[in-house]
Amino acid sequence: MTAVRVRGAFPAEAAILAEMANDLNDHVGIHGRLFTPERVLADGFGPAAAFTPLVAELDGAVVGYAFFSAGYNTDVAARSIFLHDLFVTAAARGRGVGSALMAAVAAETVRAGCVSLEWGVHTANAGALEFYRRLGAVAAEVRIMSVSGERLRALADAVSIPRR
Ligand SMILES: CC(C)(COP(=O)(O)OP(=O)(O)OC[C@H]1O[C@@H](n2cnc3c(N)ncnc32)[C@H](O)[C@@H]1OP(=O)(O)O)[C@@H](O)C(=O)NCCC(=O)NCCS
Repeated sequence: MTAVRVRGAFPAEAAILAEMANDLNDHVGIHGRLFTPERVLADGFGPAAAFTPLVAELDGAVVGYAFFSAGYNTDVAARSIFLHDLFVTAAARGRGVGSALMAAVAAETVRAGCVSLEWGVHTANAGALEFYRRLGAVAAEVRIMSVSGERLRALADAVSIPRR
């Protein structure tokens, strides 16, 4: 009988979190392995953290993680949680680890008084789409847009917003 346990990640786990976050990016076709332990430590821990990291253990070994942060659902005028990443190492899949991570993030969503849990998924990620469908999630008819790098800078330079 295998035992799955989900808990908050420790700063000492920054290296394994970076490894898994890079593996997830590779899985969805984003190459470059940009996550480093230092990046995870700076962005996932401490008072200025941009996301909260959870890890899942299977029989005591870390085999998955989730990153989430506070969001806002303007459709219902209420606070929400945004799930950035969900990942289970290939050898540990199909044993309830992903479901346990989602349950933990959902519990955190409810505990924080939020009304919904949202996330993005690559449309080509058929396995994840089926996994989420089985959990009872529905796809919103929206597209996530993104601007970065030079285009972001050009956009930022195009207007000046008076400061109050
Ligand atoms: C998607 C992922 C998190 C699922 O984790 P997991 O630990 O394998 O999932 P579970 O064992 O909890 O499976 C829960 C249910 O989903 C189903 N499921 C899981 N992965 C599936 C897949 N690829 N295709 C079809 N069904 C799947 C399981 O069969 C199970 O169904 P059941 O409840 O009817 O038995 C994991 O496969 C993964 O990390 N994939 C690569 C990264 C990724 O795509 N992450 C999501 C980014 S948005």
